[in-house]
Amino acid sequence: MALGKFYGIGVGPGDPGLLTLKAAAVLRRVAVIFAATGANSRECVSGSVVEALDGCRARRETLVFAMAPAMADRRRAWQENAARVAAALEAGDDCAFVTIGDPLLYSTYTYLLREVRRRLPAVAVETIPGITSFQALAAANNLPLAEDRETMTVIPAWTESCLADPLLAAADTLVLLKTYRRRDAILAALREHGFADQGCLYASRLGLPDERQARGYEAIAAEPESYLSLIIARRRPAAGEPGVAAEETVDDQL
Ligand SMILES: C[S@@+](CC[C@H](N)C(=O)[O-])C[C@H]1O[C@@H](n2cnc3c(N)ncnc32)[C@H](O)[C@@H]1O
Repeated sequence: MALGKFYGIGVGPGDPGLLTLKAAAVLRRVAVIFAATGANSRECVSGSVVEALDGCRARRETLVFAMAPAMADRRRAWQENAARVAAALEAGDDCAFVTIGDPLLYSTYTYLLREVRRRLPAVAVETIPGITSFQALAAANNLPLAEDRETMTVIPAWTESCLADPLLAAADTLVLLKTYRRRDAILAALREHGFADQGCLYASRLGLPDERQARGYEAIAAEPESYLSLIIARRRPAAGEPGVAAEETVDDQL
């Protein structure tokens, strides 16, 4: 029997309105949709975006991924989940794995894909990009992520080494993902490296009913902890940002 096709689909940060037309078309066509949860929370944001899509008749399956620090546990979860996906593909079913944001950015999809390919080297794969959490936060605030010669750095901020000086010293815009548990250290590092108070934006659970947003060091520090949270920090606020006089921004290189 011919193998099914494997799709990795980014469904955006949580608002079903940010699902692309291409993703929706594939989700309505495939036979099986796999969505990921963590072993602890069991919340499945990508699965709830799919639930909001009408005309989707696929069988739904949830894959539990260990977020454990031990690599052996994580690898075991990738292998077990890949075995389930491979079994459906071998049965000839087209399968989609849905993931929040974009599938190629800090996503379980890339680990799963490697394992699926190891088991089924001949499988056809298509990755469909998704809108990332930081694109959605920038858009919600009409905030330019980078202009002209500015650089942007994306950091998974959950370890100390991720806040290394050279990274923070060089970027005009920083995107800090996984800001839970280390928010105070992150804010202290941003202050130390001169990121503008009003250039710091925080959001948790963006696009979900309990979304929260905050701007500025003090307001961000007061926010409750959330796994689904991020910070965008601009060294200089962009022209036209709230509380910023035009002369405070550097806009003379265009
Ligand atoms: C495993 S990474 C997934 C990144 C995702 N693939 C993307 O493209 O945005 C999880 C991190 O993404 C960020 N994130 C994803 N969705 C979010 C949301 N709805 N609200 C806030 N942060 C979100 C948070 O920083 C979270 O800790």
